[in-house]
Amino acid sequence: MRIVDIIEKKKQGKEHTKEEIDFLISSLMDGTAADYQISAWLMAVYFKGMSDDETAYLTDALVRSGEVIDLEQLASSVVDKHSTGGVGDKVTITLIPLLAACGIPVAKLSGRGLGHTGGTIDKLESIPGFNTNMSIPDMIAQVKKIGVAIGAQTQKLTPADGKLYALRDVTATVDSRPLIASSVVSKKIASGADNIILDVKYGSGAFMKTPEDAVKLSEIMVKIGKKLNKNITAVITSMDEPLGRAVGNSLEIIEAIEFLKGNIKEGDIAELTYDFAALALVQMKKSDNIDEARKIINDAIESGRALEKFRELIITQGGDASVLDDYSKFPQVKYIVELKSGESGFVHRIDALKIAYGCKLLGAGREKKTDSIDYGVGVFLNKKSGEYVNKGDVICTIYSNDEDKTNAALEYCKDAFVLSESKYVEYNLIYKIIR
Ligand code: URA
Repeated sequence: MRIVDIIEKKKQGKEHTKEEIDFLISSLMDGTAADYQISAWLMAVYFKGMSDDETAYLTDALVRSGEVIDLEQLASSVVDKHSTGGVGDKVTITLIPLLAACGIPVAKLSGRGLGHTGGTIDKLESIPGFNTNMSIPDMIAQVKKIGVAIGAQTQKLTPADGKLYALRDVTATVDSRPLIASSVVSKKIASGADNIILDVKYGSGAFMKTPEDAVKLSEIMVKIGKKLNKNITAVITSMDEPLGRAVGNSLEIIEAIEFLKGNIKEGDIAELTYDFAALALVQMKKSDNIDEARKIINDAIESGRALEKFRELIITQGGDASVLDDYSKFPQVKYIVELKSGESGFVHRIDALKIAYGCKLLGAGREKKTDSIDYGVGVFLNKKSGEYVNKGDVICTIYSNDEDKTNAALEYCKDAFVLSESKYVEYNLIYKIIR
């Protein structure tokens, strides 16, 4: 078998056999396939797609490229949640300590930024010292000890996904249904959790632009998960506007901390975190119904237990937990520039993709896979959809380390805000749940 023939076959839109997919992934792993060949194959998949069988073969090959965590040793069910990627999406960071504080063990394998979207691992690494490179025994021991662990792919866990992910990030091949499905589900299987909740996003800031595409993506992921005896739920949610007000690594962690401190009670971040946590509590039989679950969640926040669980997680993974009480311990930026509105009206829309491009340009994401992240940069949305703006009001704030980049990001942000004279009509964050 030759890699070039596999690329040619996909270029012609033909279906791969299991052997071909296995050969491709083993060649990726042993280095006999060059990055440019894998990138060419990814682009062929992007244009020609993959059948459900091919997607299942790829998922399986990604899982087998590393080890699978055996969480059986934990004696209780474990939950894992994953988002297909959004802008300002810090719900994993609000949710994971919250669930652990409600007595649900969480073992989570997360990714780095992908395309225009941010990644949980990059966000957590903005906490000085926070270590996401965990060994499997360490991850199991940590879940046993404190009920929660968050790690990145390593050489041991879905390493082939790590390699494909890094290439997709810089070759414009992220927004492909089979590539997303195999990437997400392989990580969830490798993490060993028996309860999986997927947040499948659609809209301008997501990889799936329409709810219909998000439904198709959810169906394939749920199908593969069920085949592997996982209790899997996909929640399809809107991503037309950034989630919350902060976009950028440390800015998002600060917003998550504010939520865990009980200072953010309304808006999309609070709504989605409560919805996902309630779903998990009911799915894990910790609560009989959603209303009761919401009370348990509220108590975990109001009592301070959720914040203390996050503190414990940070300390256990080597991070500086003083960031929880002193935000100046996060990486600081040179420039903080406010964007003022040139008109009055209701904020009708904030285009998530444009805000994401502005943030990436500031250095919050990578252009090349070897790039490092500038953790402190980003955009804070002083106004969100539905809020009234007077001419001259600050609509957003840019955090930057470079004057030219600040000006370019300002242009993206100006473009992202659409004002209207009439009051904005509220929409449902959750479109559909697929089990
Ligand atoms: N999240 C992942 O882990 N992989 C993708 O491809 C997209 C989102």
